Amino acid sequence: MKEKCYITTPIYYASGNVQLGNCYTTIACCSFARFQRLMNRDTFYLTGMDEHGQKIEEAAKKAGFAPLDYVNQIAKNTKELWHNLQISYDDFIQTSETRHTVIVQKIFEKLLEKGDIYLGSYEGDYCVSCESFFTKTQLGEGGTCPDCGKPTRVVSEESYFLRLSKYEQRLLDFIEANPDFIQPETRKNEVVSFIKGGLEDLCVSRTSFKWGVEVKSNPRHVIYVWIDALMNYLTALGYESDNDELYQKYWLNDSKVYHVVGKDILRFHAVYWPILLMALEVPVNFKLIVHGWLLARDGKMSKSRGNAVYPMDMVNRYGLDPVRYYLAKELPLGNDGIFSYERFVERYNNDLANDLGNLLSRSISMINKYFGGSLVGEKVKTPYCDDLERVMNESLKAYIANMEKFELQNACSNIWEMIGRANKYIDETTPWILAKDESKHAELRSVMYHLAETLRFASTMVYPFLVETTPKINEALGLVETSLLTDLTFGYEYKNNVASSITPLFKRCDLKEELEYFENLNKPAVQEEVVNYISIEDFDKVELKVGLVLSCQKHPNADKLLVSQVKIGENVRQIVSGIAKYYSPEDMVGKKVVVVTNLKEAKIRGVESYGMLLCAKDDKDLELLEVKTLSEGTSIH
Ligand code: MSP
Repeated sequence: MKEKCYITTPIYYASGNVQLGNCYTTIACCSFARFQRLMNRDTFYLTGMDEHGQKIEEAAKKAGFAPLDYVNQIAKNTKELWHNLQISYDDFIQTSETRHTVIVQKIFEKLLEKGDIYLGSYEGDYCVSCESFFTKTQLGEGGTCPDCGKPTRVVSEESYFLRLSKYEQRLLDFIEANPDFIQPETRKNEVVSFIKGGLEDLCVSRTSFKWGVEVKSNPRHVIYVWIDALMNYLTALGYESDNDELYQKYWLNDSKVYHVVGKDILRFHAVYWPILLMALEVPVNFKLIVHGWLLARDGKMSKSRGNAVYPMDMVNRYGLDPVRYYLAKELPLGNDGIFSYERFVERYNNDLANDLGNLLSRSISMINKYFGGSLVGEKVKTPYCDDLERVMNESLKAYIANMEKFELQNACSNIWEMIGRANKYIDETTPWILAKDESKHAELRSVMYHLAETLRFASTMVYPFLVETTPKINEALGLVETSLLTDLTFGYEYKNNVASSITPLFKRCDLKEELEYFENLNKPAVQEEVVNYISIEDFDKVELKVGLVLSCQKHPNADKLLVSQVKIGENVRQIVSGIAKYYSPEDMVGKKVVVVTNLKEAKIRGVESYGMLLCAKDDKDLELLEVKTLSEGTSIH
């Protein structure tokens, strides 16, 4: 029977904010899941969206959408991004789905009956953005939220509470008995001291907004978004439903469960979640892996600061694998990592184009040159062969050990130690000299064989990160499939010839050119011709942004008008434009257009319009202004 494992990312807030930092968890978990599958484990990888709460309710309203339509649109966009990043998830859960909400209602009632949830009242300083209450001592300067810095409001509510206090000691005992429950160790210590500080019962319902899962026996209340969100890890497996096969398989019965989360949501996963499981009498059998943040040089990545890096901008320029590799290599488990274009280009050129790419192209071209592409025939070891073999075996072992611990950065280093050793081996064995001497050809063949074997090892080991590169290496080596890590041993019999020629895996790029390219991504356009001068202050009054047309329809009451749904950053707005003569609704979808975003809203022939699309127009024709590379949401200055 195969070993089993269940891997989860946090479910993302449905805000549509997908910069490189946000998608770190998902890419890293994808690499981890691909590793588990290469270890021949039956693996289930879950991700999804956290869709309820006041913040999302307000954002939907602002965009002129019903909350459900709004979150469904964001889920669709997110899935598309995951598809482009080749995220190998097995299920995508949305907390607005019925399969989730009915179970959340059910467990809430169960805990009420059991007395672990009770009705009380609460007054406190509440942050709408973070959907959390804070004690006075936790508040930042001027009563602001300690997490996001925004002002808090005093809110008083009748509320349901979860009896955390009842489980305090049990949780401490559990953590002590399971020393590797939270990785890395420093995070565990943080949690223990938080619990020892005393757990107050947690307020788990709200009456101040509607967009959430209603308490079945008292629909005035909606269930606190974190209880709702955490439960996704069980509802996706069919827990408490008519079909709980996946729950039986991946949560119980010796399955290994990994929740991977960023450091900002440690407390929810290390304190509230295990207590909820204890109250539900579900075994707490998961490991919590806590990673740091990917930061910009000047702090946290954010759209408003203009330092955010968008994954598809990078993928479109360099391909997918360099982006996935960079994230694995630059973010050590537990600590923060800094994104810089310089580092990115350095890693791309050194690790991918030079070390890996050159090793492959040099090896394939030598195997062709010296042996017509074949590796069959007598081999005699050179004095360097054993050492390369030793490094291969040791690297593989260390790599597996690091991957098991989610130490992706170290695992990458293990692969590149092996690649570095093989490149050095070429210099040591000097194949071009062996080739000149007929009597050394069996040694030369051994050298070629060792290089092919190193590349075969590398091909499997890089697969969790370089999903598009592995098939290329396999094809170059004449391999039909990727071997499992568990089957990877030195001594493969190469029946096929290697490819007669290959295109480089990665083309080297020029640092200066790349830096210029990225600088230009954020540069305002240059003004060409001015007829009537206006002051910069006048111009600054107009707020222009790049918008992405998600969908478009004909205006129900006017032939000349189109009604577009345009995504701008976190919001989707409806805009009516007089362009139906020039564009069909289908033409519009997917265009990145220029939107005046601070135009007063208007009703145009009965349909609300929240902005204007800019067009160039002469007597005959009209053309929408479009933006090629920059992401939607970008400000235009
Ligand atoms: N909805 C909650 C999670 C509920 S799980 C039951 C949430 N969502 S989130 O969208 O704000 O964050 C999702 C994940 O992205 C978190 O693990 C968070 O730490 C991670 N990251 C957000 N920005 C990040 C970086 N800049 N770098 C790395 N990870 C970051 O929290």
